[in-house]
Amino acid sequence: MSESTAHRPVAVVRNVPDSFASCVTARPAIPPLDPLLARVQHAGYVSMLEEGGFSVIRVSTAEEHPDCVFIEDTAVVLGRRALLTSPGHPTRRGETAAVGAALAPLLEVESMREGTIDGGDVLQAGGRVFVGLSRRTDPAGVAALTRFCAPVEVIPVRVRDTLHLKSGVSAVDAETVLWHPAACDRDDLEGMSVVEVAGDDPEAANVVRLPDGSVLVAAHFPATAELVVSLGHRVRTVGVSEFARADGGLTCLSVRLRSVIAVSSAS
Ligand code: GLY
Repeated sequence: MSESTAHRPVAVVRNVPDSFASCVTARPAIPPLDPLLARVQHAGYVSMLEEGGFSVIRVSTAEEHPDCVFIEDTAVVLGRRALLTSPGHPTRRGETAAVGAALAPLLEVESMREGTIDGGDVLQAGGRVFVGLSRRTDPAGVAALTRFCAPVEVIPVRVRDTLHLKSGVSAVDAETVLWHPAACDRDDLEGMSVVEVAGDDPEAANVVRLPDGSVLVAAHFPATAELVVSLGHRVRTVGVSEFARADGGLTCLSVRLRSVIAVSSAS
């Protein structure tokens, strides 16, 4: 085991398939999604995760699953346990098995038996778990998540106009979330310090906290970068425009294991 990777938080990512151009989008992508550009941007994203202190594990891509790069939707990690989800869109349900195989050496892994959840609806903040009731996550899924997380409190939140809860809310530090009004009622984020993100695009509120204390912000949201700096955080930026066109944000592109986990350099 190498010293440098022995005690680093882990981020699990999944490479972009050629079929990425066929992934699920709310509106047809015009021009069509470009897997080559997405791969370049994904490489930049992985570099930022590593520079920010994550050890990155890659799951092999799957051509039969155009959305598989949005790996966050397939697993919820709480401490040293992982819940493999049943994603809300039927074309995505086959994505979980390979993710489970990658997580199994690191975590105790279990699978949902009823309901649907997309991991993009699960926000861990302030010592609790907020879960969006959305087009992808149903009440039976929330019940399954509540059982999985016990005794950690799970708070259901009605998602308004975004695909996922985290399409418009994400944690910027242990007490603070960025929030766009399209995502949910502000009052539903009880106990958190809520900072509103302005503008038309809710994804401007989607950022990733990195282990070194910096915050990763999409390059096409410079106002968010300024806001995060004004909150006292160092910012890293990365271009992820091709994923935004596929209804995905920064959090969607990784499953993050924040507790200290021993990882061999061969992982
Ligand atoms: N394209 C991401 C999703 O719809 O799940």
